[in-house]
Amino acid sequence: MTEATTTARHSLWSDSIPHGRFPALTGETTADVAVVGGGITGVTTALLLKRAGLRVVLVEADRVGSGVSGNNTAKVTALQSTVYSTIEGKQGAEAAADYADGNMAAVERVASLVSELGIDCDLRRLPAYTFAFDGESRDAVEREARAAAKAGLPVTRDHGELMGVPFPVADAVRLDDQLAIHPVKYVRGLAEAVDGDGSRVHEAGRVLRIEDGTPSRVHTDQGTVVAERVVVATHYPILDRGLYFARLEPMRSYCVAVRLASGTPPTGLAISTGSPSWSLSSSGDLLIVCGQGHATGSPPGEPYEELTKFAAEHWDVAEVTHRWSAQDPTSYDNLPMIGPYTPGSTTLYGATGFMKWGLSNGTMAAELLTDLIVGRDNPLAARFSPHRLTLGATPKLAKLNAKVAADLVGDRLKHAEVDSVADVPAGEARVVRDGTGKAGVYRDEAGGVHGVSLRCTHLGCLVRFNPAERSWDCPCHGSRFDVDGAVLEGPATKPLPRRDPS
Ligand SMILES: Cc1cc2nc3c(=O)[nH]c(=O)nc-3n(C[C@H](O)[C@H](O)[C@H](O)COP(=O)(O)OP(=O)(O)OC[C@H]3O[C@@H](n4cnc5c(N)ncnc54)[C@H](O)[C@@H]3O)c2cc1C
Ligand code: FES
Repeated sequence: MTEATTTARHSLWSDSIPHGRFPALTGETTADVAVVGGGITGVTTALLLKRAGLRVVLVEADRVGSGVSGNNTAKVTALQSTVYSTIEGKQGAEAAADYADGNMAAVERVASLVSELGIDCDLRRLPAYTFAFDGESRDAVEREARAAAKAGLPVTRDHGELMGVPFPVADAVRLDDQLAIHPVKYVRGLAEAVDGDGSRVHEAGRVLRIEDGTPSRVHTDQGTVVAERVVVATHYPILDRGLYFARLEPMRSYCVAVRLASGTPPTGLAISTGSPSWSLSSSGDLLIVCGQGHATGSPPGEPYEELTKFAAEHWDVAEVTHRWSAQDPTSYDNLPMIGPYTPGSTTLYGATGFMKWGLSNGTMAAELLTDLIVGRDNPLAARFSPHRLTLGATPKLAKLNAKVAADLVGDRLKHAEVDSVADVPAGEARVVRDGTGKAGVYRDEAGGVHGVSLRCTHLGCLVRFNPAERSWDCPCHGSRFDVDGAVLEGPATKPLPRRDPS
């Protein structure tokens, strides 16, 4: 990957990815189950399947834990902003109760795996909060407290006494005994437990194609896994079937870790209601602030500057030590999508749509996928089936598809266009007219020119430059590419072709 792209390389958590690797897959190998993707969803699924007696081969495009699982706020909690009032409002109280059941069990599953496997991942038990800064957003807290309690969460109300923040809080709903973890150490600890006794973990091999059948064949750029079942745990689904692309919207957010000159970071896991929303946490003596979310491919503004400004308004900031960003898809009906990849499939499975709460939802997905694969009943299977039909979701679905249609036929947000590469300033990108077509050109600080095709290699939408990350991002399904076209995030599996306009 070129040095020019900053994306996701400076996460506080990915600093801890060790130099030692799991070996790349070469040649052909067999397994009962092939798992594609080494984030929390794939690795937890692989481990639970192995514990159920199956032989598993996991293939990861990059490093285990290098995806969204290594680029987040690291809260494992069943209290998640205003999720219960949202789900109850859109899908009813039973759906909210099922979501609560799955997420509470997932939090405890993470804690028990840490303890059983002795994973050193800095686990702490902390209260989680959804809070209001002022009277205006108090109603949202009130609604969330009611919906969360009705869904079965043992929540309480207070004014953030245990949250440890240096500003007044108008109202808060609290859930005790949630978890803060080091997500990369956790996920890699799970991967160590997967690897061995006939099961294997492979890094640095991107899956390019899956032939679904009996058996299925999973082709990476270097080898093939032949397996009875395949789990696609690539975060955003990579296969163009099952209509996922029409039902998911990737949302990007940004984080900074900050060292304080004096004072202490929050002692709880907090997220504010209202817009903009601020998510607060800590690791050691560092304060973590995340937020500034937007749909992937839309202009990000100056997210890192805003997060740093917020931190400096409330704390005595000495320095920003890390900054990172990531994205997570939200489904059209605000419920995760977990189960058979296509309706009725017993060979291909998937899990996605975690709405930025996938440390617990990905763990819940692993439980559910394992039950489906080994033939155990799971009461949440129908609720989270990717092929469910839910009430009241049609307008959102129509809106999502209209947006994708617009991005397929043309660029809704026009880039600044220039006639020549000479007009691209250092450190910036432009669309350069190139004969009858156009190219995306980034000029690095040393004057080097990086030109790529603007057509996303997934389904052909036009990519847009993200100056905060120096990447080309696709507004349709969230694929991202570095300035030389290499895939940073799927669903695309192929790079943007290089273009060399004059
Ligand atoms: C800013 C931010 C903050 C967040 N904070 C929290 C939080 O505090 N708590 C919480 O619960 N959730 C949080 N989340 C969400 C959570 O991190 C994710 O939902 C979760 O990590 C998703 O896990 P995953 O395993 O599904 O995906 P990933 O971790 O992205 O794993 C997917 C893996 O698949 C690999 N892959 C992709 N394509 C291929 C391919 N073709 N071949 C092989 N491998 C492939 C990728 O390299 C990647 O490693 C946050 C999200 C964001 C964006
Ligand atoms: S991600 Fe689907 S067209 Fe770009």
